[in-house]
Amino acid sequence: MEEKKFNQIGVSFKGSGSYVPDQILTNQKISKKVDTSDEWIKSRTGISERRISSLGDNVTDMGYKAALNAIEKANWDVNTIDLIVLATSTPHDLFGSAPSIQAKLGASNAVAFDLTAACSGFLFALITASQFLKGGNFKRAVVIGADQLSSFVDWNDRRSCILFGDGAGALAIEATNEFDNFIGFNMRTDGERGSFLNLPFKNDRDSIIDNIDFLRGGFSPIQMNGQEVYKFAVKEVPIILKKLLKETNYSSERVDWLVLHQANQRILDSVGDKLKIPREKILSNLEKYGNTSAGTIPLMIDEAIKNNKIKQNDIIATSGFGAGLSWGAALIKWG
Ligand code: COA
Repeated sequence: MEEKKFNQIGVSFKGSGSYVPDQILTNQKISKKVDTSDEWIKSRTGISERRISSLGDNVTDMGYKAALNAIEKANWDVNTIDLIVLATSTPHDLFGSAPSIQAKLGASNAVAFDLTAACSGFLFALITASQFLKGGNFKRAVVIGADQLSSFVDWNDRRSCILFGDGAGALAIEATNEFDNFIGFNMRTDGERGSFLNLPFKNDRDSIIDNIDFLRGGFSPIQMNGQEVYKFAVKEVPIILKKLLKETNYSSERVDWLVLHQANQRILDSVGDKLKIPREKILSNLEKYGNTSAGTIPLMIDEAIKNNKIKQNDIIATSGFGAGLSWGAALIKWG
């Protein structure tokens, strides 16, 4: 890496982008596959439909399109991008998909790598990239959240298959020495409770040659204890957000938008209630997309900007949570 140091103190949010596949899987269609109903799914989760990737919609394709969108909004020359971080648990290449996105973008000066933290992935990637910018190493970064969980869902398991969909979002962020719109963050992990939500390695034993075994690569479908994950989310997310607001000296009244990982409408409402944030400030689009894992937060932010909800200088409290178990929160000012 070329040695360069900038005199900078803060992060500025310059653009957003998103992409979802065209294929729509409605609750009605799922109920032809497993024993469920639109009414059950809608009332327990708030989800009506989700998008499903087909050829040409893998994580690299989706991430690229979302990133290009965000870069265009920021009005950047791709050669000025220093860093690309792709949050994903479902890379198109296990060695990493970010380099393919870098190549597709033609962002040849950017270093690009993947980061895995499931549904907390985008938030953790945003925090990671922000620290690089604040540290003075990089000036411009694109943070992408993209996942294709449809490839790893057990489509015969009605307890989990109803929740997930595919999609991607991205934010373009820039270092500045004039102000800091990345106000604060907090991150947590509890591996002890990791078994509540897994996408585990299959452990298929095979033999290379006499007496030398190996484990053939592959993953089992998503395994989830829905009730435990629900309890975890409605307990821990309000705690971490309250802590962050306290540490940054922000009251919840000052929050313009609550942008939570889009897992379940009941989780969103419960967290909002605990923080005394009114429903109209809680952004939600899970009705259309379900849980797109690392994709949800930037997808939601991009949609809210397009719909003229999030505006320049609005305060956004955001939280990602999920497998790991991992969770985190960030307080940002848009612009
Ligand atoms: N359709 C119809 N019935 C279903 C069903 C479905 N899709 N899924 C489960 N059920 C049944 C169960 O079999 C159970 O029946 P029983 O009482 O006869 O055994 C009943 O509904 C209640 O199941 P339960 O698991 O208690 O439902 P729930 O109210 O907890 O809702 C979730 C299930 C998955 C919607 C909910 O637990 C949840 O959203 N958890 C969080 C999951 C999550 O967000 N994961 C990702 C985090 S990043």
